[in-house]
Amino acid sequence: MSGKNQASGNATLELSIDLISAGGDGLGFYQGKAVFVPLTAPGERIVAQVRQDKPDFMRAELLSLVQPSPDRVEAPCKLYGQCGGCNLMHLSYDAQCSVKERILADAFRRSGGLSGIQAAMVRGPKDAYRNRAQFHFGPDKKIGYAKRLSNDIIALDSCPILAGPINEWLTQSVSGDAAWQKLKPYMAGKDRFIVFGQDGYSAHVEGPDTDISISLLGKSIRFHIRGFFQSNLTMLEKLIPDVLDGLSGQTAADLYCGVGVFGSFLKDRFERLVCVEQDPRAVGYACANVGKPADFAANTMEEWVSSAQAKQRFDHVLVDPPRSGLAPRVKAWLASAQPASIGYVSCDPVSLARDSGELSRAGYDLERVRIYDFYPNTSHLESYARFVLR
Ligand SMILES: C[S@@+](CC[C@H](N)C(=O)[O-])C[C@H]1O[C@@H](n2cnc3c(N)ncnc32)[C@H](O)[C@@H]1O
Repeated sequence: MSGKNQASGNATLELSIDLISAGGDGLGFYQGKAVFVPLTAPGERIVAQVRQDKPDFMRAELLSLVQPSPDRVEAPCKLYGQCGGCNLMHLSYDAQCSVKERILADAFRRSGGLSGIQAAMVRGPKDAYRNRAQFHFGPDKKIGYAKRLSNDIIALDSCPILAGPINEWLTQSVSGDAAWQKLKPYMAGKDRFIVFGQDGYSAHVEGPDTDISISLLGKSIRFHIRGFFQSNLTMLEKLIPDVLDGLSGQTAADLYCGVGVFGSFLKDRFERLVCVEQDPRAVGYACANVGKPADFAANTMEEWVSSAQAKQRFDHVLVDPPRSGLAPRVKAWLASAQPASIGYVSCDPVSLARDSGELSRAGYDLERVRIYDFYPNTSHLESYARFVLR
């Protein structure tokens, strides 16, 4: 195989990167075939080594930069590129935001059939933002993250995106020995554990700690350390007012409610509130966090839409589904229940775009869509969309 001209096995290719794909890899084309190359930037000319050659696309690793992008910066982390966490840290923050805006606009056009959608970007602090982290013990019992493209563990003494209390805990635990002795009784059958930290408080570590209580816009919210909870409290405190903006009425629903974060605030705006969540443990927390006068259903959304509770009239419905987005039955229910407005918190631009297209065809106008940058330096894209009945 003649290196730069033919793609095969470990061939090297020279190509240009056109854009950053939704997964965070740079995307270029070699002899008409898509090539995904992590850690590259739009407009760059690069040399890359093929690591996977599939019928429709290739995956390759960056070997060298022929023409670097002006948006490329020195990543402020010595483990960047080896660690499996961040994948956009080699771009300036302005460039990261532009990438996310373009990914969302492309998703709306391609998966939703909605052109010209320009999401406003609500920026976050770029560093020291992450309140929740998952760590592993490596074979030498040192604490670390999973490596990129591998199941190996990369030892850590600090991480620039972690909130202060988690980094302080890491610094104290850096040798691993004391932390291992403390956590060993809780690690049976497990290869990872969660640490949660909010500024002003010491970190909570899964095992000794299970139940966490935080303050969110003046409300006390409790959750289980292993259960779902947003990992960036600063951005969550920016998102909640947008979710509530202009809302009031008789009845609202918080669907896929988790521990009832949004319900805790929606209940102040509506006379009645229904909260639905499939995880019974989370529903227990939601009952305590939201309190009366709300109704709670520990059920899947797919089943709940056929329940008596779902037959009432809703003024506003908030949905916050997992990555896969709304199931067809849930969209069919929304189309027939016709709440005056729908709020949609999304962690996946493609499923949000697909569902937005369907809601638009079911009679809803997209009133606003904003990207909330919960995860700077990574390609994770959180957004909020509001729809109003035409
Ligand atoms: C992205 S989280 C949002 C949780 C909550 N709104 C919050 O902000 O903390 C999605 C939630 O949906 C729940 N879930 C996933 N699939 C579901 C389904 N089919 N029916 C009901 N709940 C589901 C998960 O257990 C999880 O709590």
